[in-house]
Parts: sequence; structure tokens; C-alpha cells
Amino acid sequence: MKQSTHSWQDGLHVAIIMDGNGRWAARRGWPRTLGHAAGVRALRRVVRAAPDAGVGVLTVFAFSSDNWQRPQHEVAALMGLLGEYLRKDAEGCAEAGVRLRAIGRRDRLAKPLVSTIEEAERITAQGSRLLLRIAVDYSARDAIVSASGRLANASTREDFLRALDPDGGGKEVDLLIRTGGEQRLSDFLLWECAYAELWFTPVFWPDFDGQTLEVALGAYHNRDRRFGGLSSPAA
Ligand code: FPP
Repeated sequence: MKQSTHSWQDGLHVAIIMDGNGRWAARRGWPRTLGHAAGVRALRRVVRAAPDAGVGVLTVFAFSSDNWQRPQHEVAALMGLLGEYLRKDAEGCAEAGVRLRAIGRRDRLAKPLVSTIEEAERITAQGSRLLLRIAVDYSARDAIVSASGRLANASTREDFLRALDPDGGGKEVDLLIRTGGEQRLSDFLLWECAYAELWFTPVFWPDFDGQTLEVALGAYHNRDRRFGGLSSPAA
């Protein structure tokens, strides 16, 4: 991966709900876990493409707090893939200027996985090109409740965003992508998405790549972001 000069603070915040792994596998007559493994390969492609596409922060939904309801073997497979990804890719991420952070609860994760997360965060801490945030055991509603407790005296939205999302660089989401055809937020980054542009695609996550990311960003750049105001010519 080549290094570029811009820093992640200058880029867009793109969030992705990586949906459709199970259906992608089922169409091939394969177990769902092979869909998740293919999902990791798609994530690698997107991480490679993101910085040059103008993305500074990429937040991906790897495991929601509601995903604990899935069969134990699927939960184990997802946790295994996450650990493997962090162990295999942390060095390469560091070399490519990608800083890794996990968001979400850690107290219900297996201790070795927590150590792997901490190690990956340590190795990549100097990454300045892309901030890759992986949401694990994440619920936006729980995150909001917990941040309210930590910063009861927050007087501005900015203070609250920093409390909620200390590692997001205080950046709200610019573009939320959901693959797999569903059109809902599923308890992902609810506060941070207050003014996010939403882009839904029927493409299953394992088929997503840098080109699909460019299409989504193209749609984003064609949107008129008014934030409740008027568009520029009218104003
Ligand atoms: C939703 O597809 C996807 C997930 C619940 C997990 C996403 C996980 C990965 C892409 C791989 C692991 C991630 C990392 C960061 C290593 P689904 O299973 O709900 O698919 P379906 O809607 O077709 O059933």
C-alpha cells in the first residue's frame, strides 16, 4: 500500500454496515462462516482503496451487541476472524499508515481477543493516513447512554461527540453505506449519523470493492448537503 501525504483528519468519515455475508455464502451452497471470511477479504480491499478515495475515517460494523443472539458457532467464527485479521494485518496497516481502533464494549470479549485488539492498536498508533475503526460488541444506544454518564455536564454537541467518540477525531459520519439490500441503521452510530448521507446497495458485502466505494462516494459528492439550511445558489 502506498503512503500519501494527507492525514486522516482531512478526509471524509465513511461508515459501513457490511451486510449480506450469509446470503452471499448461501447462494453458493456454502456455510455462512465462509461468507464472513469473504467479508474480511472485501474489508481489506476497501481499506486499501479508502485513503486515495478521500476517506479519512472508516468505521465498519463487524459485530453488533445484538449479534450475540446468533448461534454460538457463528459468534465464535466472527470473533476468530476478527482476531486473525488483527494479528495478520496490524503490521501491514502500520506500514500503510492505517491506525486501527476497536469501538464498542470489551468486557464481554474473550481476554485473548482483547489483548490482540490492544496490541493492534499499539502497533498502528502512529498511523496518520486512515483511521480504521472496527465496531465490535457495539450498540449506538448503549454508547450514548454510557457517554451521557461520563459527561453529564457536556454543554455542547461537540463536547458530547468527543465523549461519545473519543477516537473518532470528533468527526460525525459523512456517508453511511449499507450493503445487502436492507435499508436501516441497526443501532449503528446513531448520534454520529445525524446528518450522514445514506447510500444503500443490494450488493452483498463480499462483492464490495474499491470500485463500489468510488460509486458510493460519487453519489455522495452529488448530494446537496444543506444541514437544514438552503443550497448554495439559493442562499
Ligand atoms: C452481516 O452479514 C455481517 C456481519 C454480522 C458481520 C460482518 C463481519 C465481517 C465482514 C467479517 C469480520 C470482520 C472483521 C473486521 C474481521 P449477515 O451475516 O447478517 O448476512 P445476511 O444478512 O446475508 O445473513
